[in-house]
Amino acid sequence: MKVTVVGAGNVGATCAHAIAHRELCNEVILLDIKEGIAEGKSLDMWQTAPIHQYDTRIKGVTNDYAATAGSDVVVITSGLPRKPGMSRDDLIATNAGIVRSVTENIVKHSPEAIIIVVSNPLDVMTYCAYLTSGFESSRVFGMAGILDTARYRAFLAEELNVSPKEIQALLLGGHGDTMVPLPRYTTISGIPVTELIAKDKLDAIIKRTKGGGGELVNLMGTSAWYAPGAAAAQMVEAIVRDQKRIYPCCAWLQGEYGLKNIYLGVPVKIGRKGIEQIIELKLNKEEMGLVDSSAAAVKEVMNVLDNMQTTAVK
Ligand code: NAI
Ligand code: 2OP
Repeated sequence: MKVTVVGAGNVGATCAHAIAHRELCNEVILLDIKEGIAEGKSLDMWQTAPIHQYDTRIKGVTNDYAATAGSDVVVITSGLPRKPGMSRDDLIATNAGIVRSVTENIVKHSPEAIIIVVSNPLDVMTYCAYLTSGFESSRVFGMAGILDTARYRAFLAEELNVSPKEIQALLLGGHGDTMVPLPRYTTISGIPVTELIAKDKLDAIIKRTKGGGGELVNLMGTSAWYAPGAAAAQMVEAIVRDQKRIYPCCAWLQGEYGLKNIYLGVPVKIGRKGIEQIIELKLNKEEMGLVDSSAAAVKEVMNVLDNMQTTAVK
């Protein structure tokens, strides 16, 4: 098994290290456009192998896609964060340009790969990779829901003073403040969360989850990487080990949840073929209303990309 991580920045390097550390494949290629950065970080990581006791080989390259040839999974983390004075449309244009050129190279060198997109704005960058690749949608999906539910679960564990391992949760919608954490599908070792926590406290945790990315940007001046890198690595694990795990991921909807032609966060089953099933929950009216609002917000951003006319490589 071979996995490529594109972008050796904070998220990409953390993800590559998690993949190697957990021995998810024989070889991880870390690729960046900046001269020497992927080589340097990979060398540093490889020197942790004797300490952590793993033998997955990590190799860094500068824009050399020949080295990525035949990858089974490619994680795309390349892209800029939004900078002061940059409009949302400017960010979309810049990151879409990056994601498009990266995807073209992936298609050329790893035509059978499964693509996991991490770059922001997540839902629309996943759409961009899908349009550019011409791959079936089961092989192109995005990472956000695992991260967003991890934040939700971490906040709940802290509030309830229980192990985070006890908390199961689901979340739907786009990766942004319209995301929809679902208390009805949140349990503490099988116990409905509403039996253990007061409504006002749960509402506050949901609000904090929705602003979870922004909270970290405010603290660090840049976006998070430990949890995002670990979340993307967990998706890689589900694929390479054919685990059939059920995770919330950004997936292409064709009628599910009454939505069509949109990338949105929903529960999916992940295995060796990528997304092997999209799971439809029986949502109530209020939950469906929140998902519809989130879908409308994502669609608006997808329209910006549509107006830039991204087409498949082939
Ligand atoms: P970063 O700035 O640390 O790293 C980005 C890397 O991409 C840089 O090393 C840069 O040289 C590289 N890059 C730029 N253009 C490239 C190209 N054409 N080919 C190869 N590499 C290229 O950023 P960080 O913190 O790693 O974040 C990466 C992306 O992930 C951002 O768009 C960020 O917003 C997003 N993100 C998404 C999350 C999610 O939940 N989906 C969570 C956290 C971050
Ligand atoms: C995050 O949620 C900003 O998408 C990034 O941390």
